[in-house]
Amino acid sequence: MTQDELKRAVGQAAVDYILPHLYADSIIGVGTGSTANCFIDALANVRHQFAGAVASSDASAKRLRDHGIDVFDLNSTGNLEFYIDGADEINGVLEMIKGGGAALTREKIVAAAAKQFICVADESKCVKQLGAFPLPIEVIPMARSYIAREVVKLGGDPVYRQGVVTDNGNHIIDVHNLNITDARALEQQLNQLPGVVTNGLFALRRADVLLLGTAAGVQTRTVG
Ligand code: 5RP
Repeated sequence: MTQDELKRAVGQAAVDYILPHLYADSIIGVGTGSTANCFIDALANVRHQFAGAVASSDASAKRLRDHGIDVFDLNSTGNLEFYIDGADEINGVLEMIKGGGAALTREKIVAAAAKQFICVADESKCVKQLGAFPLPIEVIPMARSYIAREVVKLGGDPVYRQGVVTDNGNHIIDVHNLNITDARALEQQLNQLPGVVTNGLFALRRADVLLLGTAAGVQTRTVG
């Protein structure tokens, strides 16, 4: 199976997973990226069975609307039952690095407001230790160089993602070569730096379920 076929398989698997729990007034949290897009495309086939979605990016909001799915502001909904999104890396305890698509802040907000985070990924995203994928940090523009210097003190090699402005009007630093042995501690440490909006570690709020696309089919993984 190609990587695209695996992404489509997990997108459909996520719809199958949530469908028995959807009601006419259900609002679903929806992530960003090529795997989340496959979920959105599969969701379109059942769009009359729920009320709509909260999107984690302008791009996902447009794709949802293009499919005829209503998009709600998180301020107008209560907490959500499900958040479905991809990952750049995911480890054995379902901690992730996210933000390759620069949507990490809204992703973290919608994930926090959801009872269940369902990660959809193909097996290329599975790692023993997070950090081979450069860790994205969304920063207030004036803090970019300061935060880069602080990240060097932590042993990382920061690279400014040139030309990218997030949906929130901020910049992204991608941090290479971090030795991430305690993802929760590093997530908290980076959050303390003035000017950091969000970092791409999703460890404090990790996934509850991983729907993993493999050549042998979609596997469901949880942490006990
Ligand atoms: C966007 C993200 C995505 O979930 C992550 O980059 C994975 O994307 P893809 O499914 O295209 O590999 O965090 O900010």
